[in-house]
Formats: sequence, structure tokens, C-alpha cells
Amino acid sequence: MCGIVGYAGQDPAVPFLLAGLNRLEYRGYDSAGIAVLDEGAVQFVKAVGRIAELESALAGQPLSGQVGVGHTRWATHGRPSEQNAHPHLGCHGDVAVAHNGIIENHSALRRELEAAGHVFRSETDSEVVVHLLEDYAHLPFKEALQACTARLRGTYALAVVRTKDPGAVGAARQDSPLLVGIGEGENMLASDIPALISRTRKVVVVEDGEVVVITAEAAHIYKAGGEVHRPPLEVSWNLEEAERGGFAHFMIKEIQEQPKALRQTMAGRLSEDLDQIALEVDPGPLPERLWFVACGTSYHACLVGRRLAEDVLGIPAEADLASEFRYRHLKLGPQDTVIAVSQSGETLDTLSAIRRAKSMGARVIAITNVIGSSISREADINLPTLAGPEIAVASSKAYTTQILTLTFLVLAYAKASGLLAAQEEARWARDLWALPEKAELILQRAGEIEAVAKRLAAAKDVFYVGRGTDYAVAMEGQLKLKEISYLHAEALAAGELKHGTLALIEPGVPVVALLTQGELLDKTLSNLAEIKARGGWIYGITSHDLSGHQELDQGFLLPACHDALAPVLAALPLQLLAYHAAVARGTDIDKPRNLAKSVTVE
Ligand code: G6P
Repeated sequence: MCGIVGYAGQDPAVPFLLAGLNRLEYRGYDSAGIAVLDEGAVQFVKAVGRIAELESALAGQPLSGQVGVGHTRWATHGRPSEQNAHPHLGCHGDVAVAHNGIIENHSALRRELEAAGHVFRSETDSEVVVHLLEDYAHLPFKEALQACTARLRGTYALAVVRTKDPGAVGAARQDSPLLVGIGEGENMLASDIPALISRTRKVVVVEDGEVVVITAEAAHIYKAGGEVHRPPLEVSWNLEEAERGGFAHFMIKEIQEQPKALRQTMAGRLSEDLDQIALEVDPGPLPERLWFVACGTSYHACLVGRRLAEDVLGIPAEADLASEFRYRHLKLGPQDTVIAVSQSGETLDTLSAIRRAKSMGARVIAITNVIGSSISREADINLPTLAGPEIAVASSKAYTTQILTLTFLVLAYAKASGLLAAQEEARWARDLWALPEKAELILQRAGEIEAVAKRLAAAKDVFYVGRGTDYAVAMEGQLKLKEISYLHAEALAAGELKHGTLALIEPGVPVVALLTQGELLDKTLSNLAEIKARGGWIYGITSHDLSGHQELDQGFLLPACHDALAPVLAALPLQLLAYHAAVARGTDIDKPRNLAKSVTVE
């Protein structure tokens, strides 16, 4: 949600800024802009729509200069327009600001600034920042940023240029991601790693309350008490992973990358003899209760994790949406452990949920895909999913690696609490190790799914059903279809059908059935018979031999696997179904309308 980039170096700034914005496209945006310092003046270009529009505007009005900032805006206050696009300039045109986040006290500040004679040009909350900075133009850059941010309430990552400091970019952070990339003869700013890795792997994570001033020679980070010296983190992602390569969309590339992502996530978590679970951290004693908290797809991974925890550990476990959990009047304490799952590690609701849990004394374990992300830093323990960068808005490889990591966590708890016999542990280890190869076998059969996807693409509604863990997986299947194909889809616990939704089943209505949980198969098949009797068209995804059963019209047989690991494999045909349905419908698959990859507002 909004992306910012900044550059101070010896090369022209625009190519870096544009490439960076392109790599932040996945965050979701509806306008973009760039401002550079050129011969003592701020020059800028903005455009509504995609970065391609900004590029053509820049072609007609080239900007030169070696210092600048760029922004992709996802509209919150004020519609997408050139006027509302960032960077915003002050009354005199000598300061430009790009902002990610929401300034909550913008109305009061705007009234005050207007009364003092400032003239606003946009409807955004962000514009107050640039007018405040104008008032502090007499102060050195660092002090001006500190004085300005002291007046702000809300969330922000800011990137600022001003003519008074022609070689520098200023920045500040509160609850919105901001990184400094340390280069050679150049330093950079970005909301996320993919924007930086073409130039550097050395990244310093800016923390809340800090302000930053970068020049070609140095990057200075300041807290209230003075300068902060934090060694940079070394990022292992490579540029290839952050680029589309020969694929039509990032999403299909990321779907295809899952065997590799699973292997990477598993590496080092199994003993060499493949007989032991060897999680890199001790999760601590088994808590009295486990809470799984997340949003979107990550929440669906939690639903799978919760069931596994209940089955293997025998303790009460609950999964909740972070946006709900954070406002529940729960009494948590040291006996509780909250497991927060987030691909980006920046989702505001999930971050707020763990802050709340921590303030009540609960232990927090994070499962994130982004090194140095807020959630990973604030948790007591961080377990990374090593999926590599996920660029498509709709999550695929992050989801399956989250389930895998949750499985390792549950097994580590079981092992530490004496709940896992050696033989059983060895069986889990072998089954886990076999997963990536089975995933490869499924992905080789993508063609089978394409034909089914075309059928779904022509439907009005699509229903996904399953019981137990299969219901959790069905929820992810329907979300995938909805978010990228814009078809209406709904997931149901198969046993609930006859309490309402069965009324919507008429001849030809497609139903995707998940059938991977042996102990619930017969029950689900009975529910499918009820659908079939009403003419519904049933596509089954199963890891069990269902030959001899007449309920399915068509099916996809997954490679045989441990029932508890089937969600990882079942996710793949569901992702492919959604992807090919979206291709058939011609939607913007990597950047679905109205959605953003990193949701940093409530
Ligand atoms: C957005 C994304 C989803 C993601 C969800 C949670 O809605 O489009 O793909 O599942 O946020 O994000 P997180 O980064 O916390 O996993």
C-alpha cells in the first residue's frame, strides 16, 4: 500500500527511482510520481494509473539530477489524480515529500497551516507534511525532520528532498516500513527490499521514531538521543527472484516456484538422516493455549495450523483474524502464546494484534517472509518462511511455506514436550522431505486444470466445500478465485450446506470439493451426493482413491501423502484453477483491482 523510494548518489536518480517503483508495484497503487533536485530546483512529474504512464510522462519531460524521491500512491484521502499524487510540493516549490501511511491529525494541522497562509493543492492527508517542513526550512535537515514528525500523529514513512540540502534525501518512519540501502558512492531508501536489490544487498531497517539523512557518501540514522549505528542486514534474495523472467505473470512464476520455496523453507529444519525435526529455535514450553492470528491468506494458513496443533498437541488452539482479535476483550498472559503469520511482516492489524498480546504478557512467535520486517522484529521468536520475494498481490508460495513452517513449529513443540515418539518423528520427517517432489508432479499437470478453469470462468458463482482441514483449504481456494478472477466464490463447511447454501445449487453450478482428510471422506461424500442430486457440477481434489464413487463429475488426484500435509499439495491445483480462470477472464492478475499486497492501514 503506497511505496516510496529515494536516491542520493552519483548516477542519474530517475532510472533507480523508476526501477524501484516498478518493483514496488505489487504493493498496490493508482498513481505515481517522482521529484528530483536539479540545478538547485525541485522538478517533478506525476501521473495517474500505472508506472508506464509515469514513464511516458517522463519521456516528454525528462528529469535529470542525482538526488530524488519517488512514490506509488494507493488512494485513501482523495481520489486518484495528478493533484493528489505524491510527491507533494510546498507553497514555494522548494520542498517535496512522498508519504506512505495516514496522518491522523491532518485536519487540525491543515486548518492551522492554512490560517498561517499556506495554500494546499491536494485533498490528501499527506500534504500537511510538506507545509510543516516549509515552516522548518531554517533548521538543518535532521532537526527539521524531527520538528515536523513531532507534530504528526498516525503512521508514516516519509522521503523528502529540499533545495536547501541539494545532495541529501531525508526520511522518517512511524509504523510504515522504511529501509536504507547502503551502496558504494550512493545510498538509497525504499519501502521494501525488491526496490533495492539491483544496487545493494546491504540494508538497514529504520525503526519507529527515527529520522534519516542520506547522501552519496553516508547514511545517518538518528533517534531522539542522537545518532544510531546499526550494522546492515545482508539480504539473500536475488534480482532474478524479484523479476518476472519469461513468465506471463508473477503469480504463475510464484506458483511454479513452490517446490524450491518449500525446499528452502525446510532446509536446516530436518536432520541430515531425515529422521528428526530440528527447528532452529526452541519454541519454549508448551503453552496452555495457542492463538493463531493473521489476515487474508495468512489467516487461512493459520486455520490449517490451528487444527494441526489441536490434533498433535492436544491443547486448546484458536485462529482469529487479526482485525478481530485486536479488539476482543481477551485476558491473555504468560500462559498464552500468539503465533502471528504474515508474508510481508508489515500488516498493520497483525502488528497491532501482537503488540496488544505482548502488552498482556503473552509470548509471540512470528512467521514472516521478510527479513527485518516489523512483525519479525517485535515478536519474541521469528521463524522465517524462505519463499523468496512474493510480488503478485495474491499469495501462493508464501501460503504453502507458512503451512510448512507452522507444521515444523507444532512438531517442535510436540518433540520438546515428549509427545512425539522417535518413530513417529522419523515418519513426519520423511513425509515432509517428500513434499517438494510431489509438488513438482502436480505442477507438471497444470494443463489438466486449465480446462476446468475455463468452465469456472464462465460461472456466476463457484462454491468450495470441505470438512475439517479441507474446509480451511477450501477457504483459501475461494479467496484465490475471488481476488484474481473477480468471480463470486464462497467456501462452506460441507456439513453446513443444507443449512442454507444448498438453495443456490441448481443444474451446472460448479462446486470444488476438497477430499484429503481420510477420517472425514465419507461424510463429505454424503454432502456431495446432496449437491449432485440437485444437478451441481462437482470437481474433486483428493489424495485418496475415490474410484467407485459416483459423486465427482471430474477430479484431480494428488500424490498420496500424510493427511496433515495434504493442504500444501491441495493448494497447488486451487491456485492454478484461480490463475487460469483469471487468464480466461482477462483480469489484471498480479495487481487485482482495489487490492494491495502490503496492507498498512486498518
Ligand atoms: C493482503 C494480500 C494478501 C495477504 C494479506 C495478509 O490482503 O493481498 O495476499 O494474504 O494481505 O498479508 P500478510 O503480509 O500479513 O500475509
